[in-house]
Amino acid sequence: MKDYKRTDYCGDLRLDAIGRQVTVCGWVQRNRNLGGLLFIDLRDRTGVIQCVFDGAGDSELFALAETVRHEFVLCVKGTLAARAEGMANPDMPTGAVEVRAVSLDILSTAKTPPFAISDAAGVNEALRLKYRYLDLRRPELQNNLVLRHRAAQIARRFYDSEGFLEIETPLLTKSTPEGARDYLVPSRVHPGEFYALPQSPQQYKQILMLAGYDRYFQLARCFRDEDLRADRQPDFTQIDIEMSFVDIDDILDVNERFIAELFQEALGVTIPLPLPRLTYHEAMRRFGSDKPDMRVGFELLDITDIARDCSFRVFNLAAATGGVFLINLSGHAAKFPRREIDGLAEWVKTYGVGGLAWIRLVGGQMTSSFGKFMTEDEMKAILDRAGARDGDVIFIVADTSAPRAQQALGALRLEGARRLGLLRRDDFKFLWVTEFPLFEYSEEDSRYVACHHPFTAPMDEDIPLLDEGKLGEVRSKAFDMVLSGTELSSGSIRIFDSDTQAKMFSLLGFTQEQMDARFGHLLRAFQYGVPPHGGMAFGFDRIIMLMAGADSIRDVIAFPKVQTAAELMMESPAPVDEKHLRELRLRLDNTN
Ligand code: AMO
Repeated sequence: MKDYKRTDYCGDLRLDAIGRQVTVCGWVQRNRNLGGLLFIDLRDRTGVIQCVFDGAGDSELFALAETVRHEFVLCVKGTLAARAEGMANPDMPTGAVEVRAVSLDILSTAKTPPFAISDAAGVNEALRLKYRYLDLRRPELQNNLVLRHRAAQIARRFYDSEGFLEIETPLLTKSTPEGARDYLVPSRVHPGEFYALPQSPQQYKQILMLAGYDRYFQLARCFRDEDLRADRQPDFTQIDIEMSFVDIDDILDVNERFIAELFQEALGVTIPLPLPRLTYHEAMRRFGSDKPDMRVGFELLDITDIARDCSFRVFNLAAATGGVFLINLSGHAAKFPRREIDGLAEWVKTYGVGGLAWIRLVGGQMTSSFGKFMTEDEMKAILDRAGARDGDVIFIVADTSAPRAQQALGALRLEGARRLGLLRRDDFKFLWVTEFPLFEYSEEDSRYVACHHPFTAPMDEDIPLLDEGKLGEVRSKAFDMVLSGTELSSGSIRIFDSDTQAKMFSLLGFTQEQMDARFGHLLRAFQYGVPPHGGMAFGFDRIIMLMAGADSIRDVIAFPKVQTAAELMMESPAPVDEKHLRELRLRLDNTN
């Protein structure tokens, strides 16, 4: 490349460099031959510059330029000049200038790409992922990866300045329960035994605390075999943090200051601190969600007391064991005509509730789905509770399970806001949700499982409930950071004595043998001097997705996987040959 020494990135050239000899290198975005003049738009990761070849000049050079096709890699030397009068392109950052070419080298030719980079955004995602290297040439993806890089550097600098040490933990390890399936790696040296890829560095970071490393962080790769969604990947990255001699406030404080610094530096957005906090119960009660989207003002209101004694049987039945809740989309009745409401009523059933009751107040007239079953006073009580005015539309969900009714109405709150166009991507509303339950009941396993993970400490005042067996009522020292309805991070104060930890495992149904096999190392370590500690982990991909305003975390990951956990470019996962399997002493069962 000695002869092709680049002087400038394509996207950096402006009027102030006019008259300078420049050498630019990049990919052909577009070429137009107007007979006497030939234009090539050359692209690199900073942008596009127009190069001009003059037919009246060097004929050999012009002939060579005529052979150029899309995505060829070129090195162009020339003089930077202002574009001719009327030829400037105000839509392009480099639109006022062009390179008048004096030499051209074709460094690499290219097959016709399966899609044009300039309008790849509309192309089927599977095709783009198969040719990810072409897709990655798009400015949108390049900007996302630059933002990701910038955020990683800011994180490193911030946590370093706060006295955190970046320490790597192994990828070939043993299972740490975070609620998903493990990815397993067979051991050649220990036939029949397997490493697990970490679902998170949870146990290592806790052990680092008792080893005295006090403040740890890591940009940690994590692996979880779980159902994929737009904000989940089987391998993903956390900003993982652990601190000793702290309580919840210390952890929230340092990490919210990180978020504020990140948004300020990378986006120029000021996040007011401290972030608001809600307890889990308050979040469920007011928003029907443990990750409430605070871009939306509407709140749930409890009308179980009114419903209990009213004349509408559906409400009575629900109120007897569960709850009845309403939400008033105040001022938006016009956007929810009958047809729209009927659609929403079907939609809400996917949350396991029977249906949707509603009231519309338009032009001084009230219509409702259940008015005929109610007395005037009962209806008035509901309207009063809702603070109803003309122009309002009120939705009510009644269910024999109060949490189910709240969750359904919480989802409807968001769906309503979405249909009203209230969810702006550049509106960043953070909050902390605290005091999560320690346990949740798993219908699938017919037992209690850890809500966060089994290392999370119960709230001191709720410890007696553990002995009373009231597991469902125990609150924990776990917390989440939520951004605009997405869980960005989770963390907790940890259990730090081996007896309580062993008790926790046993409450979660582990036998003594299972405990020894899976967590013996941790319980043993906990006998050698453990500082009180706690920490959390940010979903790094999710932060970048929301900062970039992307639809999916796939758009902020260089080589993401699709719904089926396959990576389409390398075509992983892939079969391995028989010899490799024999070495690992593995035999495939192809019976189904
Ligand atoms: P948790 O399991 O809640 O906690 O994960 C922390 C954060 O990681 C992100 N996240 C994911 N991002 C992309 N794809 C996934 N499959 C995925 N799963 C989780 C989320 C989540 O908030 N060890 C604990 C943290 C701690 O207690 O310190 C843990 O991993 O944004």
